[in-house]
Amino acid sequence: MKIYRIHALICAGAQCLAAGGNGFEDALKEELKKHDLTEEVNIVETGCMGSCQLGPLMVVYPEGVIYTKVKPEDAKEIVEEHFLKGRPVKRLLWKQEEKQFPTLNEVPFFAKQTKIVLRNCGLINPEDINEYIAQGGYEALAKALTEMTPEDVIKVIKDSGLRGRGGAGFPTGQKWEFAYKQQSDTKYIICNADEGDPGAYMDRSILEGDPHSVLEGMAIAGYAIGAQKGYIYVRAEYPLAVKRLEIAIKQARAAGLLGKNIFGTNFSFDIELRMGAGAFVCGEETALINSIEGKRGEPRKKPPFPAQKGVFGKPTVINNVETLANVPVIIEKGAQFFRKFGTEKSPGTKVFALAGKVNITGLVEVPLGTPLRTIVFDIGGGIPEGHTFKAAQTGGPSGGVIPAEYLDVPMDYENLPQLGTIMGSGGLIIMDETSCMVDVAKFFLKFTVDESCGKCTPCREGTRQMLNILEKITSGNGTMEDIDRLEKLGNIIKLTSLCGLGQTAPNPVLSTLRYFRDEYIAHIKDKKCPANVCSMRGAKNEGKVVNRRPA
Ligand SMILES: Cc1cc2nc3c(=O)[nH]c(=O)nc-3n(C[C@H](O)[C@H](O)[C@H](O)COP(=O)(O)O)c2cc1C
Ligand code: SF4
Ligand code: FES
Repeated sequence: MKIYRIHALICAGAQCLAAGGNGFEDALKEELKKHDLTEEVNIVETGCMGSCQLGPLMVVYPEGVIYTKVKPEDAKEIVEEHFLKGRPVKRLLWKQEEKQFPTLNEVPFFAKQTKIVLRNCGLINPEDINEYIAQGGYEALAKALTEMTPEDVIKVIKDSGLRGRGGAGFPTGQKWEFAYKQQSDTKYIICNADEGDPGAYMDRSILEGDPHSVLEGMAIAGYAIGAQKGYIYVRAEYPLAVKRLEIAIKQARAAGLLGKNIFGTNFSFDIELRMGAGAFVCGEETALINSIEGKRGEPRKKPPFPAQKGVFGKPTVINNVETLANVPVIIEKGAQFFRKFGTEKSPGTKVFALAGKVNITGLVEVPLGTPLRTIVFDIGGGIPEGHTFKAAQTGGPSGGVIPAEYLDVPMDYENLPQLGTIMGSGGLIIMDETSCMVDVAKFFLKFTVDESCGKCTPCREGTRQMLNILEKITSGNGTMEDIDRLEKLGNIIKLTSLCGLGQTAPNPVLSTLRYFRDEYIAHIKDKKCPANVCSMRGAKNEGKVVNRRPA
């Protein structure tokens, strides 16, 4: 193997590429050629490093020097100063509160995270299977196939306590066992990569940055339940993820890690991609099955559950991208290793897409049970421009808000529902005092109204009625009875809708009513938007009226 003096890891995740990462890489290569350094400096294109807002990013090893917002014109100085003279270019280092952080390990944003799922993202070239293998990739599959029975694999996953990261937190081992027990010659594994929550991009980053971890997790799941075929349902708006998955599948097949008789055993397994057209409801597992079968993407009644009667009527396990990326680590290192992180009932880590009014946005992986305060203040660097934390929306349009008094509550599958919200897939939007909570609820409800498939009346008509009431309130025409109507309608919709979309759609409204009822009352009684966001006809608002959306 070739030895290099320097490894320059350049982020080739979607956001860094959009910010001009390619142009910087070309300029750097040009400078390396000019200085005859191509044999000494290894350039590696990696997946997302997590702090996309500061991209394009480059990390230079062996020291781990991190450069932010690099531009083509910076390449010359980096090569001449750092690569030739060993003097990192200070002006490009990570800066926070006037302090510079020379290396990645010193930056609080990275130092305070625990990376299991994102273990390889930002570290390896996702388009080269050898880099995944060099990190221990496919060892878990080898172990499962050659040293474990399917029952052993299911037991380890059950013992680990892994819960589905797609939203509901259902125990993964239990789901696999259910499918394993079904008598059928044909079974399927589906990876749900539909990821439709506004602001969420955890799954996309995993697929772009470490696609083999998901393929390996799917093959292990296939062995456990007795499936020979897997589908990855990925939205077509993720072209880079699709490209990297196609490359990964091709390379895994060529290496004999997918296909017939994997590792010389009787187990054969292959994976196909299926593209989704971007309907939020198609992430719901039964609608997704319909979509794969070429039918209209509408949810089906449950039971039968997919593990009994899934795609093409056969037993099917559907797991989220992040759930599957955890699987190789659990098989390789054991259930007890996984249980070292998180809480007893919510073991492991969770990746959050931290967004909104916070200094450093990006992907954050922390042990489950980490308080919101740690994520927002220690990792995210707090609220910008002297503003104060008001609330955080978790679970996207299906979730609710956590107000400031609960900043220290552990974020896990037990505590969030008690606060009236859910973990969801990991969207985490931070709001400060300039956000209007009625407007926030309206934003999320508008999303679910637009995305409702229309199959059942409570969701199709009920959410539209709730939105009409919110529009009435935010334009200064609401009455106190409207608050009762919102609560009544919301609870009926939750109880009577066919699928999870309708069952959770009222959450943002009910949760803002629970914690910020005074803001609704101010809109109704005082004809005033306390955050100065809504344009009220009553015109009691003072100052500039802007129509701000939750960032
Ligand atoms: C409207 C709606 C959208 C959903 N979107 C997704 C999604 O994009 N990705 C996902 O993994 N799960 C999504 N889910 C949850 C899936 O139905 C399913 O529970 C999940 O894929 C199971 O995987 P897990 O057990 O690994 O979490 C959605 C559910 C609903 C109701
Ligand atoms: S709850 Fe909404 S999205 Fe789900 S089936 Fe009914 S109308 Fe469609
Ligand atoms: S895409 Fe580069 S840090 Fe996220």
